[in-house]
Amino acid sequence: MDATQIKDAAQFIQKQSTNQPSIGMILGSGLGVLADEIENPVTIKYGDIPHFPESTVAGHKGQLVIGTLEGKQVIAMQGRFHYYEGYSMQQVTFPVRVMRELGVETLFVTNAAGGINENFNAGDLMIISDHINNMGDNPLIGPNDEKLGARFPDMSKAYDGQLATHAKACADRLGLKVQQGVYVGNTGPSYETGAEVRMLRTLGGDAVGMSTVPEVIVANHAGMNVLGISCISNMAAGILDQPLTHDEVIETTQQVRQDFLNFVKETLKTL
Ligand code: HPA
Repeated sequence: MDATQIKDAAQFIQKQSTNQPSIGMILGSGLGVLADEIENPVTIKYGDIPHFPESTVAGHKGQLVIGTLEGKQVIAMQGRFHYYEGYSMQQVTFPVRVMRELGVETLFVTNAAGGINENFNAGDLMIISDHINNMGDNPLIGPNDEKLGARFPDMSKAYDGQLATHAKACADRLGLKVQQGVYVGNTGPSYETGAEVRMLRTLGGDAVGMSTVPEVIVANHAGMNVLGISCISNMAAGILDQPLTHDEVIETTQQVRQDFLNFVKETLKTL
């Protein structure tokens, strides 16, 4: 995925919408409903955008929604691309490059994740303080285009501290309890074993999922500020004596959807 392809995709999107979004949002499993609240929306199917891959997983819609939310011009991905679907890291992160090209400076990244921290409960929201890339790959491997970012980008502030503090204050104002913690990115698509979850806890993880890490690496490479929010859709394997299913993940995210919506909207409104 090179600079020309990024420009092609961005130009195509600019032809459909005259908006100048400065905030991008990636909406994870079951969380895409937030995009339904965008006013005066222009929706563009991923399949129509040059060089965009197409989303395959159930519960993901596969379109960009551009418009106004809480008075802010936003561009939202309703559904994302996952590494486990067989896309390369470069394909998974292509939309982030395109958002940057469109002028996006702040990226809200959301996901459903399994709780590793035993103080968490299914249904909790978690502000991501940091991540662990456990995917065995990196979207920046390969030749580096200096116009897009540095060869060796700093990741010591991968998630913007000020945005996280702001989000926490918004949650407090709404009376919402939010956790804060470290997100571990695994490739999936199999869920973890109990032993893997114990390992990830020892390594410092609080939640585990199959996304987010590639997009956040690229967002940092591109100089964007990132706010990450996980919806703890289940406790990770081995903590409770019950098998995990994708249905449970979707069901829980639907139960906390109103809290999630209120939280993100308040965070946006007062940004
Ligand atoms: N593990 C990995 N990914 C997930 C989980 C989980 O328990 N829940 C939602 N996404």
